[in-house]
Amino acid sequence: MEKKKVVGFSFGRKMSNTEVMIKEALLECERAGMEIEFIRCDELNIHICTGCCACVGGLMSGRGRGACVHKDDDFHIIEEALMSADAVIVGSPTYEFAPTGNFKVVCDRIGPAHDKTFRGPAIEQGIAEGKDPSQYPDVRSTKPRVGALITVGGARTENWLSLSLPNMHEFTFPMGIDVIDQYKYFGAMNIEHVLGRPDVMDRMKTLGSHIVEALNAETEEERIRYRGDEQGICPVCHQDLLTVGFGGNKVECPVCGIEGTLDIVDGEIKVEFSEEQQNRSRLRDGGKWEHSNEIRDGAMTQKKVENLKELKMKYIGVGEK
Ligand SMILES: Cc1cc2nc3c(=O)[nH]c(=O)nc-3n(C[C@H](O)[C@H](O)[C@H](O)COP(=O)(O)O)c2cc1C
Repeated sequence: MEKKKVVGFSFGRKMSNTEVMIKEALLECERAGMEIEFIRCDELNIHICTGCCACVGGLMSGRGRGACVHKDDDFHIIEEALMSADAVIVGSPTYEFAPTGNFKVVCDRIGPAHDKTFRGPAIEQGIAEGKDPSQYPDVRSTKPRVGALITVGGARTENWLSLSLPNMHEFTFPMGIDVIDQYKYFGAMNIEHVLGRPDVMDRMKTLGSHIVEALNAETEEERIRYRGDEQGICPVCHQDLLTVGFGGNKVECPVCGIEGTLDIVDGEIKVEFSEEQQNRSRLRDGGKWEHSNEIRDGAMTQKKVENLKELKMKYIGVGEK
């Protein structure tokens, strides 16, 4: 039987905290018989997304494979690693209470181009039309995958890492990678290197064993079971963020984009997200279909602005040096 493959993607410094934490988890996967690969993303030359949407346009028209207009950078290395992976372990340092800038650059390039609800129909259409596989998206795009997210912050105060793990779902959600564990190591400035924190390194072994368990699971329920330390306020992304200000007791999970209701019970905050709302999360197929259909519909019904060229004239060159 072919070995399952686990790929680690690090956005941290070479051999620093993030990197060795991911590698400890990978070693655990290797011990359990998995194939492993490690990618140091900051050593790759990845161009920023141009915003042209050619990737999605091609997928929607059934003529493209989700490819980017950039052909001269190293994204193909990330592409092949993602396609070949059955599981990913993604780690980013916290910079400015969020993942690094390069992390975001890579996520934009994964983005809609890899969304399973765009790639899936394009694959089906390509096969149905008997096209050569080079003419439609990689058939590995939609295979089930699991993932784990890790962030590292130097600050001694946990709230200096507040938007890291929530934003790191940007890496996994387009392809529908089920995140089964997340870990935040804060206070990294307290000690020269995480290798002096055996408790954290043990947690990374556990994170690796969680990936192994999920990959060896016999049922779907067991495969996607969340194994993080805390369940969090949101039962889908397992984060603790809420958006308020909608009136009444309505709240939203900003990671998932789903509605819930907040109540104070015995002095404690309780938030309920119905099953229906949970299934609308952008981390799940229901939410992804809702959004991709909205984009397909938007492309068909978009209103044109009269005299757009003339209206733009006033702004050409303004303030530019
Ligand atoms: C530009 C910059 C911004 C940072 N901002 C934060 C921050 O907001 N919160 C935090 O906890 N640590 C912050 N740090 C510290 C890093 O998270 C810390 O150095 C971490 O160990 C880096 O990961 P690495 O050792 O794997 O490279 C920042 C570091 C840099 C360089």
